Order: sequence, then C-alpha cells, then structure tokens
Amino acid sequence: MTPTILLLASLFLALSASYISNGEVEKDQLTELKLNSHILQESIIKHVNENPVAGWEAAINPRFSNYTVRQFKRLLGVKQTTGNELSSIPVVTHPKSLKLPKDFDARTAWSQCSTIGRILDQGHCGACWAFGAVESLSDRFCVHFGVNVSLSVNDILACCGLLCGVGCSGGTPFSAWIYLANHGVVTEECDPYFDQIGCSHPGCEPAYRTPKCVKKCVNGNQPWEASKHYCVKAYTVNSDPQDIMAEVYKNGPVEVAFTVYEDFAHYKSGVYKHITGSALGGHAVKLIGWGTSEEGEDYWLLANQWNRNWGDDDYFKIKRGTNECGIENAVTAGLPSTKNMVREVIDMDADGDVSF
Ligand SMILES: *[C@@H]1O[C@H](CO)[C@@H](O)[C@H](O)[C@H]1NC(C)=O
Ligand SMILES: *[C@@H]1O[C@H](CO)[C@@H](O)[C@H](O)[C@H]1NC(C)=O
Repeated sequence: MTPTILLLASLFLALSASYISNGEVEKDQLTELKLNSHILQESIIKHVNENPVAGWEAAINPRFSNYTVRQFKRLLGVKQTTGNELSSIPVVTHPKSLKLPKDFDARTAWSQCSTIGRILDQGHCGACWAFGAVESLSDRFCVHFGVNVSLSVNDILACCGLLCGVGCSGGTPFSAWIYLANHGVVTEECDPYFDQIGCSHPGCEPAYRTPKCVKKCVNGNQPWEASKHYCVKAYTVNSDPQDIMAEVYKNGPVEVAFTVYEDFAHYKSGVYKHITGSALGGHAVKLIGWGTSEEGEDYWLLANQWNRNWGDDDYFKIKRGTNECGIENAVTAGLPSTKNMVREVIDMDADGDVSF
C-alpha cells in the first residue's frame, strides 16, 4: 500500500470510530420495545395524510409490511462523517453561469443508458453506501463512454474491508468511491449480489453476514482483473443546490446520503419532507434529477434500492433547496476512467481522463 492509502485507511477508521461514539442516532437510544415494534404504523399514515401541507402521501408499503423497526434499521448503512472531518476531500463546484433546465431526469436525458432506470434490491444488508456509488459509476460509464455496464456491489461490499467500514453493518459512501478509484470494481456478471431473497426467509433474522471476498468471477473463464472498471478520482460536490444540479447535468447521477426518520418508510408519492417519527439512521441512494411539483415545491428525484414495492415504484422525491434531512450535505461521485476500457472504447486514449 502506498503511504496515501494507508493515511486514508487510518483516517476512515478514525472517522468510523468517532461516528460510533458521537453519532446523533446512536445517542438517541431507541427502546427495545420500539425496536421490536412494526416499522409501519397507521398512526403515522394518518398524521401525514391528514396534514394539508405535508406535500406527500403515506401508505403501507408492502415491502415493509412485516418489518420491525430493528429489521428496517439494518438497511440504513451509512456511517456519517461530519463537515470538519471531510475537509481534506476535494470539493467540486461548477460555474454559476451554466444554464440549467427547470426539470431534469437522467433517465430521459440519457435514454440509451439502461442502468439509469434499473431498480435494485439491497436485500437485508446495510450495503446502501456501496449501492449508491456502484450504481452512479455504472450510469456514468454510459453517460461518458456510451457503454451499458452493470458494476458489482458485491465486489466493494465483500472486498473493501475496513477502509469502507463494516460491510452489511454499514460503511461510508466516500470510501466506496476511493475503492472504485484505487481498486476498481468488476461487473455484476462477474460477481453478482449475494442476497437474492432479502427478508423473505422465515422470521427475517438474523440479517445476512457480509459476503466473503473471493476475487473470482462466477464464470470461471473471465479473469477478475480484466473485469475491473475504475473511477478517476473520488470527490464530493459542494452543497449548493446549483452545484449538485450542474454535476448531475454534466456528469450523470451522484450518490447522496441523508437521515432516515420513521415516516420515510411510509413514503408512497409526492415531495417528501420529514414530518414525524424518530431518526433511525443514515441511508445512501442515487440522485437522478430534479423538478418542481404542481404545488410549486422544488424537489430532487432519487432512486432507492428497496425494489418496486416501496414508494413510487422505488423512486422518491424530496424537498430541494433546504437541505432536507441533510440530503445536500453529502453528495459524492467520481468520473469513470478509461483504464481497462481500451477493449470497449477503441478511440479513447487509455490514459485520458474526463474533465469536469
Ligand atoms: C408476517 O409475519 C407473520 C408472523 O410472523 C406471518 O404469519 C405472515 O405470513 C407474514 N406475512 C408476510 C406477508 O410475510
Ligand atoms: C443499452 O441497452 C439497451 C437495452 O438493451 C439498448 O436499447 C441501448 O441501445 C444500449 N445502449 C448502449 C449505449 O449500448
């Protein structure tokens, strides 16, 4: 390992440790009774749906009809870092002169890119921090190089180790991007996601253990290293909504993290904002666009990875411009690298980088 990687590794270990001791969510002790109760509550649905200015609709999402609060919390695998701790990480801004559309949806802007609209399922594992990163990078390979490629969440989840966190028990989105830059990620075809049944096994518990790092493609003929795809370098995006919009507009979807409260499990449609319930943890998803609702409310458009029986076909909107649930504070991304891409992109200089 180079000194830089060692330094980063110890930095992230320190960050995870400080999260565990200082994290807001950990301090907010949820009682055993609460943890064992159902996550979906008629009282919450009533509270939201009877609020004339809620702006969103709550419902019993089939995905969580049998989940307890404890089981739901397992999906929220973002270990948060504070603003100060992130100060050594590059922050990208964009020229304010850039003209941006009022509405934007990456699925239609790059309709030739099949991964952008793919709905995934993290199963019963807190791997959201890896999903957001891998999904965004897959989309960005299509946006920049015109290739459809599904990259492997399983590779990062199993092989990033302590640099990223604790696998299914959570990790930091930014460290996932560092892994993508330094180690690359194989394709989904080479290393498919390990959890295909999620919580549908009897009783749902215990949750899955983090899969083992095997470094072999399931198809024995394909070499692991040749399947690797890299990002150029990891960065965060300035929390000004204009910068986030410009980043998505120019370079494709980004990974974002935010605080999940109890009411979010009940989201069905509309523009979400936190109305009721306790904070349960940090969650990472993919941001794919923005717009303004008929009621005049600005929103972000995001894709979750909770399969189609949660929310609006697994998509959701959240209020834009007010840092709702911290969503504008933790935007991470990286640009796809041409390294290893020469077979797929013949005309590209193998060492060339994409500019911002
Ligand atoms: C929910 O859990 C109960 C009790 O564990 C079980 O009887 C029922 O079949 C489950 N329902 C679904 C939809 O999984
Ligand atoms: C990606 O796959 C879709 C569906 O198979 C196809 O329609 C599209 O043309 C592909 N895009 C590229 C850039 O190859």
